[in-house]
Amino acid sequence: AGIKVAVLVGSLRKDSCNGRLARAVERLAPADFSFEHVRIDNLPLYDQDFDHDYPTACQGLKQQIKAADALLFVTPEYNRSIPGVLKNALDVASRPYGTSPFAGKPGAVLGASIGATGTALAQQHLRNVLAYLDVPLLGQPEVFLKFTEGLIDAEGHISVEGTWKFLQGFVDRYVAWVRRFVGQ
Ligand code: FNR
Repeated sequence: AGIKVAVLVGSLRKDSCNGRLARAVERLAPADFSFEHVRIDNLPLYDQDFDHDYPTACQGLKQQIKAADALLFVTPEYNRSIPGVLKNALDVASRPYGTSPFAGKPGAVLGASIGATGTALAQQHLRNVLAYLDVPLLGQPEVFLKFTEGLIDAEGHISVEGTWKFLQGFVDRYVAWVRRFVGQ
């Protein structure tokens, strides 16, 4: 059957280094793992009035997450937190109350930034939100990637051996974590 991973990238930018990091992770995963990028750029800003008649794009997001076996969050850091677009997507997907698709789905958080802290603070905020949403998150290794020009290309090829080995170690731990929950 295979394991389906829903990938949420917190940047809408075409040349996002986090998009590249997500593709690098996908390349390092075994063949029975498939990755689906979840769109978050087509969502309205969450409004509790939606709850009576949920917009189509919001329902689509919920269904995509519901259909996945596991989750992968790859986020930039904006002003020491997660980008608003990602928080909006989490809010949208989590509602109406009682219909959240997140609970119990294994996940992991990683991120890249041009700053030396490599999204560490944003990831802490994201872990807080995901703990409330009952997503069991991989604890280690933490991936706080300081992105430099050419480190990962648009197809997800990694140019530095140390980074490649480190990310392979992350993927191996992530795959083992997900298999524990999915039983495959
Ligand atoms: C940033 N950036 C940034 N970097 C960082 O390490 N810590 C931070 O708090 C911030 N804050 C921040 C705010 C805003 C509004 C922007 C636009 C950028 C820089 C950020 O790391 C850089 O733009 C990355 O390239 C963003 O990730 P993507 O879009 O390449 O995935």
